[in-house]
Amino acid sequence: PLSAQVNSQDCLEIGGCDVTALVEQFGSPLYILDEMTVRTACRQYREAMASYYPGESLVLYASKAWNSLAVCAIVASEGLGIDVVSGGELYTALQAGVSPDKLYFHGNNKSSAELELAIESGCTIVVDNWLELQTLANIATEPVRILLRLTPGIECHTHEYIRTGHLDSKFGFDPNVLDELFRFVSQHPILNCIGLHAHIGSQIFESQPHKDLAGVLVDFISKASQYDLPIQLLNVGGGLGICYTESDDPPSIDAWVKGVCEAIVTACEERQLPLPKLLCEPGRSIIGSACVTAYTIGTRKEIPEIRTYLAIDGGMSDNPRPITYQSVYRCVVANRMSQPLTETVTIAGKHCESGDILIKEAKLPQTESGDIFVVMSTGAYNYSMASNYNRIPRPAAVLVAEGEAELILQRETYQDLIRHDCLPKRLT
Ligand code: LLP
Repeated sequence: PLSAQVNSQDCLEIGGCDVTALVEQFGSPLYILDEMTVRTACRQYREAMASYYPGESLVLYASKAWNSLAVCAIVASEGLGIDVVSGGELYTALQAGVSPDKLYFHGNNKSSAELELAIESGCTIVVDNWLELQTLANIATEPVRILLRLTPGIECHTHEYIRTGHLDSKFGFDPNVLDELFRFVSQHPILNCIGLHAHIGSQIFESQPHKDLAGVLVDFISKASQYDLPIQLLNVGGGLGICYTESDDPPSIDAWVKGVCEAIVTACEERQLPLPKLLCEPGRSIIGSACVTAYTIGTRKEIPEIRTYLAIDGGMSDNPRPITYQSVYRCVVANRMSQPLTETVTIAGKHCESGDILIKEAKLPQTESGDIFVVMSTGAYNYSMASNYNRIPRPAAVLVAEGEAELILQRETYQDLIRHDCLPKRLT
């Protein structure tokens, strides 16, 4: 899906821009985000929802995957709503001009200040737990639009850190408390409960778990109707996986949406319920494949008969996914695109940590220090999880489209790093 090609200088081009030239202009490491790929994924979701779901629908972008002004503005301009999970993400989406009626605020431990910001902004709040429900009932002076997040008790095959739908998850209300929950909400009209939400996990390749989820959620609607809560909206969460390697084989956006829509329609027909408005909230499958990270190759360490390390000028601070989830990525050398892959090396980051390995076994052409090394599909949960470990400034990000590149995140500077440091007087 990425608009990538190789030019006559044997260099990688993304969105019509030569990656090596981008690094020269904007520095290294550099996140390079392809606008067309983001827009295409948004459209695929929207069009699939429109064609497979007979009722009303809305696609939300789960902005935890990459939340920044430019990204919020792009997805909003494609007609998507946005899922935010903190005051900071909410603030960013609002500053990007996203309309509050398309903002959904998640989180399992929202602070009072965050809840107040949410109420004031007019977004919909996805309520996760009893404390939040009680706090909202206490502080709201006008009806607040809420969804209830429920734990559906559905298992899926993905890394244990990114599974959320199983019963011992920290997220959402346990299905055992539904009677009590629906009773409480129906007795507090200030809580304008318009819908139910569940999310079962991330980087999922099977479609069955989401089909099972449809049935479970529609059962929850029937139950709510016993308490005079007319649920008009279901949000089935996100979770569709993307290809990080050749062997990854997720369903297409179209196939995934079709499966979810059909399952909801069937479940509603079986229970003779009207179709709710349907929401889904993909993050990774909107932004993941749209970005690459370009680095500059530095030192080389050869340990005879064991391993060759190539070090790059970034690592776990700009992409914490390999060290956190053992994630695997594809890579290329941007200035040697058609040279034969003659060696297998280990790509090490520059952090003071042995585990700071971006790619264990990378098949590369013969490289030299100064070459531009590119990791593919770094759009999701890279920038958003980036840190300043070792006081390394976060990279810049550029948006590329039709041969033009524009900065969307400035590179952090050393001044940025100490901006919030305070030196007690007696130490000066
Ligand atoms: N909705 C909710 C309530 C979520 O918790 C998430 C992801 C999504 C939607 C979007 O899921 P997606 O479509 O992106 O799979 N940092 C991890 C992923 C954490 C996912 C957290 N929740 C990683 O790098 O793999």
